[in-house]
Amino acid sequence: MATRIISTGSYVPEQIITNDDLAKVVDTSDEWITQRTGIKQRHISLGENTSELAVNTAKQLLERAGVAADKVELIIVASVTADYGTPSIACMVQKEIGASNAVAFDVVAACSGFMFALSIADKYISAGIYNNAIVIGAETLSKILDWSQRSTCVLFGDGAGGAYVEKSETDGIIEEELGSKGELYEILTEGYTRCSNVFNDIEEGTDSLWYVNMDGREVFKFATKSVVKSVERVIAKSCVSPQEIKYVIPHQANIRIVEIISNKLKIPYEKFYVNIEKYGNTSSASIPIALNELNEKGLIERGDKILLTGFGGGMTWGTMLISW
Ligand code: UT7
Repeated sequence: MATRIISTGSYVPEQIITNDDLAKVVDTSDEWITQRTGIKQRHISLGENTSELAVNTAKQLLERAGVAADKVELIIVASVTADYGTPSIACMVQKEIGASNAVAFDVVAACSGFMFALSIADKYISAGIYNNAIVIGAETLSKILDWSQRSTCVLFGDGAGGAYVEKSETDGIIEEELGSKGELYEILTEGYTRCSNVFNDIEEGTDSLWYVNMDGREVFKFATKSVVKSVERVIAKSCVSPQEIKYVIPHQANIRIVEIISNKLKIPYEKFYVNIEKYGNTSSASIPIALNELNEKGLIERGDKILLTGFGGGMTWGTMLISW
């Protein structure tokens, strides 16, 4: 038994911010951002919160799959920018789409979040506990960026993407791997909440920890190493050769990371689906947004072998080989 993607969807806020727009607010340039990252523009929310992006994606998933909301059994949303500490985004999605029979919860695995969420859904489905699931990665990273920090604010964007999956007797997820390296957690953090209350002193010097803080070079090194090894292990465990893989959908963080991964794996760059120029890094939403774009363009056919691979804060990584 396998878990198969039945429909894909995505939603991004309307407002586009170009590199030139950013150069008006921080000391940067279109040339620097394009050369160092491949990003040309990103979508930024002017008020819609993460749950609204996720709800729009969920509605699209059900419409495209032709499934009624009350038939959905599981909703998992991956995010590091939830509207609330509680409720989960998934519970808010459940209410808004009317999926009254579903179990709903969120997972936190930063940019690997969609891979973790899809893997969890697959486990429930493979175990025969649920028959289907909505899996979404959704972020409004603009609310956790320090817009005076050129080293981070140029990199990220807002958006959501997802997949509706069902139990399948034939095609679906073939092989996968998730990984975590908690000892490196400090190289990429955001959203720190202070432990201050009426009984103790206000914790000083932690205000900036609310924003994305990153040792870019260390994250870069981690990404190129962990993704390559993870992809090699997943391919080795499967009966699929690298030549049989039609597309690789990598986490869209930096075009140079994708080029290095392609070189090290000896998988031609043309097989990597890259759309970072339009959206920037949308964290947990980046892989499903790219997957949906590929699908909407009609570039994937039944039985095609597609490899999804991502890395992110934690540090974490996740790779999945799918027979479409
Ligand atoms: O989803 C996971 C999250 N993040 C990532 O995957 C990010 C991984 N890391 C990267 O993508 C890259 O390390 C960055 C794009 C973040 C940075 O690129 P880099 O080639 O590693 O640049 P750098 O940090 O070494 O900085 C080089 C120079 C510095 O100036 P000096 O010290 O050489 O004078 C920076 O101050 O570039 C400067 N710089 C900028 N200049 C113009 C940093 N940000 C900017 C900017 N515009 N936005």
